[in-house]
Amino acid sequence: MRLLLLALLTGCGVQRQVRSPDLERGRIHFQNYCAACHQYDGQGMGDAPSLANSPWVTGPESRLIRIVLHGVRGPMVVDGRSYNREMPGFGSVLPDSEAASLLSYVRQQFAASTGPITAEMVSRVRSANPGRTLYWRVEELLGEQ
Ligand code: HEC
Repeated sequence: MRLLLLALLTGCGVQRQVRSPDLERGRIHFQNYCAACHQYDGQGMGDAPSLANSPWVTGPESRLIRIVLHGVRGPMVVDGRSYNREMPGFGSVLPDSEAASLLSYVRQQFAASTGPITAEMVSRVRSANPGRTLYWRVEELLGEQ
């Protein structure tokens, strides 16, 4: 399994000319920061929607990064089910490279066809929203891609 991951990562790295994020660290971060609500298998539970094949995970990376840095609230529909809760942001505890590893793990696990997320992408989103403390609303995320 580990070899397979390595092979995949190396492949992506060569093709996309990006530094490979650390998927093992990403896995640990996912367990620490996300699994309590979204479950280890990403299927979600109760108020937390599924990450598996969610359009928020497969869609533009800037949206996914914003959700994880700053949080998200309020009505959203995932896989035909409505959710109307809040998710806290993790921007203050996850530096760019750690957020990149976490999100690359999330994408690799739950949206296999997508590419990894780099620290540079996270950094761009963070610096475009300096001092943001409010959770994102779905309309904001969909409005400005
Ligand atoms: C305290 C519980 C909680 C934690 C911890 C949490 N989330 Fe969420 N997450 C939610 C809830 C609730 C929503 C739906 C919010 C709404 O109704 O607008 C959500 C929505 C999302 C979405 C968009 C919807 C979807 O399912 O695709 C993504 C992506 C996401 N979370 C990723 C993460 C990641 C990655 C982490 C870890 C860094 C994380 N979440 C940690 C509760 C949580």
